Amino acid sequence: MVSTGTGFAKTILFGEHFVVQGTHAIGASLSIPLNVTLTPAEELSINIPTGQIVLDASRKILDAFGLDGNYLIEIDTKIPSGAGMGWSAAYSVALSRAAAAAQGMELTWKRIAEYAYLGEEVFHGNPSGIDNTLSSRRGAILFKKGEDPIPIELGVPLHIVIAHTGKMGITKDLVAGVAQIRAERPDFFLELMKREERLVVEAKKCLETANLERLGELMDTNHGYLKQVGVSTLELEDVVSIAKENGALGAKITGAGGGGCAIALAESKKETETLMQALSSKYLVFEAQIG
Ligand code: MEV
Repeated sequence: MVSTGTGFAKTILFGEHFVVQGTHAIGASLSIPLNVTLTPAEELSINIPTGQIVLDASRKILDAFGLDGNYLIEIDTKIPSGAGMGWSAAYSVALSRAAAAAQGMELTWKRIAEYAYLGEEVFHGNPSGIDNTLSSRRGAILFKKGEDPIPIELGVPLHIVIAHTGKMGITKDLVAGVAQIRAERPDFFLELMKREERLVVEAKKCLETANLERLGELMDTNHGYLKQVGVSTLELEDVVSIAKENGALGAKITGAGGGGCAIALAESKKETETLMQALSSKYLVFEAQIG
C-alpha cells in the first residue's frame, strides 16, 4: 500500500541553542511543505541524494511504527537542507505521518511530534524537540524542552524575510559546540541563559501586543547572544548588516547557524520588498508571513 504524509518548514524567532540548555524559545511553522510518499520496495531507499544519516533516521521511525519491511521513500519539497529551516524535522514529521497512515493509525500532532523526535535524535544527537513540534502543527508557540508548547496569539501578522547564506550548518556539531562552551565557562553561560530567558518572555509580550519596534530590538540582542556562543559566520553577519541597512526592525540567525539562514523583521508587507531586493543579489531569499 502507498501512503503519504506532510511536515512543514519552521523558523525559530527567539531562543535557539539556549532552548537545548533549558530556556524557553519562540518559533513558528512556515507554509513550506515537505511531502513524503512511502511505497513498499525491495530495499530501503530515497529518491534524492541524501546521506546515510537520513536512511538511519528513516529506519528508526519506520521500526517505531512496526514497519520493518523496506520502502522507497519519495521526498518532494522546496525546503533547503542544512539551512535552519527545519528540513530534518519536516522530513521526520512527514515520514511519521506516512508511516501512521500505512498502519491505519490516526494520530494527534503531539503523537506525530513524538515519533518525529526519534528521527531528530538521529539527525541532531540532543534535540530540544522544538523543530519537530513546530513541523507537526501550525502557528507560533512558546516552547520549553519536555513541556507542552503554549500557542501564541499574534497581535499582528509578522512579515519576515529569510535569507539563506548557501552554506550548510551542521546542527549536531553546533549544538555540541555550545554545550562545550557551557562546560568550559559555566558562569558566563548561565548569565547568558538568564538574559535569554528574560528576552524570550518579553518577546512573547511584544508578539501579543504588536510591539514590532521592540521585537526587532530583541531580535538584534538575541543575535548578539548567538554570536557570543560562536554560531554566527561572516555570511550570517553580512545578511544581518544588509537587512539592518535596508530598514529591518531586527535581524538574527534562525536555527542552528554555522551557515544556514538569518531572518529579518519588516515593519509591514511593503518593507519586505526593499529587504528582498537588497538581499536577493547575494542570497537565496524567502518571504514569510507568520500569523
Ligand atoms: C535548531 O533548529 C534549533 C536548535 O536550538 C537545536 C534544537 O533546539 O534542537 C539549535
